[in-house]
Amino acid sequence: MLTPQWLDQLRSRTTLSALIGRSTRLQKAGREFKACCPFHNEKSPSFTVNDEKGFYHCFGCGAHGDAIRWMTDHQGLSFMDAVKELAAEAGMDVPAPDPRAAKAAEKRDTLHDVMAAAQGWFVQNLSAPGGESARAYLATRGFDAHTLQRFGFGYAPEGRQAMKEALGKFPEAMLIEAGLRIEVENRDPYDRFRGRLMLPIEDARGRVIAFGGRILSKEKTDAPKYLNSPDTPLFDKGRTLYNLHRAAPAARQSGRMVVVEGYMDVVAMAAAGIGECVAPLGTALTEQQIEMLWRHVEMPILCFDGDTAGQRAAMRAVTRALPLLRPAHSLRIVRLPEGLDPDDLIKQRGARAMEEVLGAAKSLIEVLWEAERDAQPLYTPEDKAGLKARLMAHVDSIQHPDIASLYRRELQDRYSEFAFPKRESRWQQGGGGGNAFRPGQQRGRGSFQNGRWQPQPESTPESLERLRRAAAGGARDALSAAVLAGLVRWPGQVRRHAEALARTPGLDPRFGLLLDCCQTNEALETSHLATILVENGLEIPGTAEYSGLRFGFLNPDIGADQAAEDLAQAVDLLVERPVLDAALARATARFESELSEEAFADQQRLLKRKLEFDSRLRQMATRQAASS
Ligand code: UTP
Ligand code: MN
Repeated sequence: MLTPQWLDQLRSRTTLSALIGRSTRLQKAGREFKACCPFHNEKSPSFTVNDEKGFYHCFGCGAHGDAIRWMTDHQGLSFMDAVKELAAEAGMDVPAPDPRAAKAAEKRDTLHDVMAAAQGWFVQNLSAPGGESARAYLATRGFDAHTLQRFGFGYAPEGRQAMKEALGKFPEAMLIEAGLRIEVENRDPYDRFRGRLMLPIEDARGRVIAFGGRILSKEKTDAPKYLNSPDTPLFDKGRTLYNLHRAAPAARQSGRMVVVEGYMDVVAMAAAGIGECVAPLGTALTEQQIEMLWRHVEMPILCFDGDTAGQRAAMRAVTRALPLLRPAHSLRIVRLPEGLDPDDLIKQRGARAMEEVLGAAKSLIEVLWEAERDAQPLYTPEDKAGLKARLMAHVDSIQHPDIASLYRRELQDRYSEFAFPKRESRWQQGGGGGNAFRPGQQRGRGSFQNGRWQPQPESTPESLERLRRAAAGGARDALSAAVLAGLVRWPGQVRRHAEALARTPGLDPRFGLLLDCCQTNEALETSHLATILVENGLEIPGTAEYSGLRFGFLNPDIGADQAAEDLAQAVDLLVERPVLDAALARATARFESELSEEAFADQQRLLKRKLEFDSRLRQMATRQAASS
């Protein structure tokens, strides 16, 4: 057995620079070596080798690893061959496999054989004459032939001994251990799955480890609709996600992973082109399953029914995730229209409707806040204290100190705003419409302090000039220009996003001006906003500024409701971007100074999220264009 200790010893006896130096020209640079990256084409060296840490890393393409990884990824060896070759050079013996582990592996092998045979038999039954009723039922579900085949649908016939006869070459004890037959004291064992439509449940490598069987008729009300394999040496319900082996590669492509409640929902999603979809196996999501999801994406999207049971399940998932939260990792949560599961939704309204629902996923803190806010009415001081106590109890369950304090702050803010609404909100100052904005006052200059726009007291041509320069500088980009144009076109939406925008650092100063206007004006008009911008020497963003981004809210024919929704999504992106950029910069700096695996993983995760962000932006801007 190769223990971690043995592998560490192997690494420490290998001088990485010497190994890599055989095929790549390395230059000494301080305590490290530098080179042009052997994994991608480049002119200036961004590949570093650090012998102390035993890692190489390329800042250009992200190639990263230790000596073993070098041998597999650069030299093309298998893992075991890499280990053997390095061990020979280091004068170490490769340990023989542990006989006990070997035996357990052998046993699992044979159980895998049983499961594979059972799967083959179920599939065969479905097309056999006896499978007529199952085929008739399947026809009602409306899945195409390719989908049925891909998911391995099968049929378990009626009869208590059918499987025993078909899989007679395996000993009874093995069929029982595999969970296919049931043994009760003093009685003959019998087949677990009878008269059911069968779905294989596969592990991350695509091997069948369990089955789920659905009842065909609606009449048999005493039998459960779905029957699943029990836990076996192959199958641990809480550590398995249905369809993960197909969803993982799809998630790598899309940067997204969706969790639904039922097998059939997964199948329907895949048939509708949403392949990155998994389901737990009839239980609430476990901690292990959350960790499994995070290994693939940082923000898995969980779908729950719109009814109260679904909402309770959502809160269960939220409370389970809170203690596990770590930087950049969270959940997004979707509430489905009431009475529809994803399968129904797709059948009734199409895949696009499903995509829209997924696009409206809420953050974990949002779901937590809304659930507690709406749990009880808030009339008395005691009610308010109760809400605060519930919120803080959630915060206390968060293990990660930074995240806990960020949640505490945000929930406290939301609580105060909700429990003690200001009579004179800053958005309603001044009351009547006569208090129109007067250009020439000090508008548009200032800064955001404590989330509020603070106008700068004095106004000079010089400060105006500075502002204009800033507006033309880095803060100006296509996304913010598009959002600005959107807000000018839909002034009624400014107030809705004022808080979020005010909290976002480094935005185009024109946002400040708009927020400022909305502070002093009850009813804003497009022409009015445009005038104010122009009178302050600023331009209304034109198509040249946001060319390439064709959001729906800029489409001349769009309705107000759709525009509001599209605009909200774009504002979300705008607000999220600086947070993401800052986190990425921090992680990169940390990795450059530490060169540790953990820091690398953090950096890679954020990089992936940034790519995901970019593709979300692209998708949104072009999708809206396509729909116009
Ligand atoms: P649902 O009843 O919501 O399943 O149960 P569904 O996918 O919509 O089923 P169809 O569309 O009627 O065929 C969701 C999941 O809960 C588990 C199964 O894993 C199922 O996929 N379940 C449900 C059971 O384990 N046993 C049951 O009796 C019912
Ligand atoms: Mn269903």
